[in-house]
Amino acid sequence: MKSYVIGCDNAAVGLKNTLREFLVALGYSVEDVGCDSTDDSTAYPYIAKRVCDKIIESNYEKNGLLICGTGLGVAMCANKFKGIRAGVCHDSFSAERLALSNNGNVICFGARIIGAELAKKILKEFVGLTFKDGFSTPKVAAIGELELENLK
Ligand code: RB5
Repeated sequence: MKSYVIGCDNAAVGLKNTLREFLVALGYSVEDVGCDSTDDSTAYPYIAKRVCDKIIESNYEKNGLLICGTGLGVAMCANKFKGIRAGVCHDSFSAERLALSNNGNVICFGARIIGAELAKKILKEFVGLTFKDGFSTPKVAAIGELELENLK
């Protein structure tokens, strides 16, 4: 069973805590890297770094959940890390395709956009899906080629 590293900025502490408990209740192992207070002003790029560093340290065995106000900032930052494929999913189809088309390993939400119940439903769908080799494999490999060309 996959394990998850989760993090958020101070726009999303409540949703992050709710989704952490939800993942634990589903049986996943979860590491929460904060932040834990609305008074914590750590900016979202540093939270994305905490999560992505843990995923890379695990040799990509772990997946990630990142939440900020919109999901956009954390997704942009996460995609700067080698081997991280992050996407914002506020609908079920996006979550399915993030897993099955993009072999995504970090799902992102915007706490100022999505409610807890919809986020739980989408998260449950995402974590239940596993990428399989096939039609999408060369496209995902091409993402890796772009990283080699463009990231140090
Ligand atoms: C608040 O800092 C807000 O900018 C952040 O949570 C996020 O929405 C950025 O993309």
